[in-house]
Amino acid sequence: MTVPMSTGSADHNGQQRDALAHIPGEDGWPIVGNTFSALRDPVRHAEEMYQKYGPVYRDSLFGVRSVAMLGPEANELVLFDRDKNFSSSHGWGFLLDRLFPRGLMLMDFEEHRLHRRALGVAFKPAAMKAYLHALNNGISRRIAEWHLAGSGQGGCTDLRFYPAIKQLTLDLAASSFLGIELGPQANELNRAFIHMVAAITGVVRTPFPGTQMRKGVKGRESIVAFFRREIQMRRAGQETDLFSELCRATKEDGSLLTDQEIADHMSFLMMAAHDTLTSSVTSLVYLLGKHPDWQDKLRAEMHGLALPPGAPLPYERLGDLALLEMAFKEAMRINPPVPGIPRAALRDFRFQGHHIPAGTRVAVSPLFTHRMPEIWPEPLKFDPTRFADEVVRARHKYAWVPFGGGAHMCLGLHFAYMQAKSFFYHLLTTTAVSLAPQYTPQWQMWPIPKPRDGLQIRIQRIR
Ligand code: HEM
Repeated sequence: MTVPMSTGSADHNGQQRDALAHIPGEDGWPIVGNTFSALRDPVRHAEEMYQKYGPVYRDSLFGVRSVAMLGPEANELVLFDRDKNFSSSHGWGFLLDRLFPRGLMLMDFEEHRLHRRALGVAFKPAAMKAYLHALNNGISRRIAEWHLAGSGQGGCTDLRFYPAIKQLTLDLAASSFLGIELGPQANELNRAFIHMVAAITGVVRTPFPGTQMRKGVKGRESIVAFFRREIQMRRAGQETDLFSELCRATKEDGSLLTDQEIADHMSFLMMAAHDTLTSSVTSLVYLLGKHPDWQDKLRAEMHGLALPPGAPLPYERLGDLALLEMAFKEAMRINPPVPGIPRAALRDFRFQGHHIPAGTRVAVSPLFTHRMPEIWPEPLKFDPTRFADEVVRARHKYAWVPFGGGAHMCLGLHFAYMQAKSFFYHLLTTTAVSLAPQYTPQWQMWPIPKPRDGLQIRIQRIR
């Protein structure tokens, strides 16, 4: 199906402006459109546009005209995509094409289905158990190191949490994703990977010398070279890390994924997992620091597992941490790690009385939907009981979409819950988290929520 997709060029934008002229909205400043307003405060930007124009409006961001579609019905139409009308590949392509090409989100329909199925083997229970083993070890060791590094009074340590958890997430990926020990090789891969991720939002999109994009492209070259060097050996071996699982994965016709396919899927998986986990765990740590009563409730649930002190969290007991799961969901409601999800329409469609033509870039917004007061009373209040079973059943299925929905729904969501549960289990059974009185960090919400100051917390050993 070939439809002219938005390139962001002046010509294309001109055509797109005419095609979208009947949709309420505004184009903002020449060239930059509404980018600065949206970057400064994406929540406020969406709220103001919603107040002025309603849940479907024309916007102009990053040099591209698009249509924002807000609310659960829009999420369902676009993400569930019953009519196979919304291309994820054309939606995400302009951000991810150069650095993370041929990842799952950059494939559509039948090709996407085939690859997603092949990757599924790396998320089966036996594989997940092996990853959890690596996660438990790495997490408990690192929390003990955080305590040792502290020189504060009364067993307290002050910690800038965001960089600390970002480093831990990278190191955990080295063991559970790549099956390598921490050391010079892991450090080099981590550095290359960080350059790739930073380049996603680089302003200059061509890899000129000195640009972030150039560092990202170089980073990609060295990561892909690492994967390609290792694949033969991993295929022949018995290792249980995610990379080795993918090396042995087969498609429906029984053929193995090619070396390039494995390298592309692996680098994409690492990207999809890294900042999202870092962001969501940071949000919950902050909220628990603000709500010590919830630390007590979660600790009581954890003690109810009756595991010996310091023992790993077993895979079979993950389901027993229901309150922790609710708290994690509530943190991702308030700060969804993927605040907006883009697609491109392949054919004309109608939504809420608007005719939207083929070729239009559309975006749904978990961030906006998760804070709609008509769905979430007192939207900024931390209240994990919103995720009790009976309350969830009464809500629109697409009112809470941190993992997306439909065919592209996050493939790693069980991995994400597992890592978060392992982290909070080891943290809260050994540690109390507190914040300075009146401390309220500023959050940068785009492209991924994070505290601008790195989140200053105090940890105190309680066991
Ligand atoms: C809290 C953590 C995470 C959040 C909030 C999250 C969120 C998302 C969202 C919203 C999407 C769908 C995007 C779209 O429809 O365009 C997605 C896709 C994906 N995620 Fe996650 N993710 C998380 C963690 C992970 C982890 C840990 C992994 C891997 C282990 C992972 C792997 C993927 C993959 C492969 C896709 C593409 C799926 C497809 O296109 O079929 N994610 N994620």
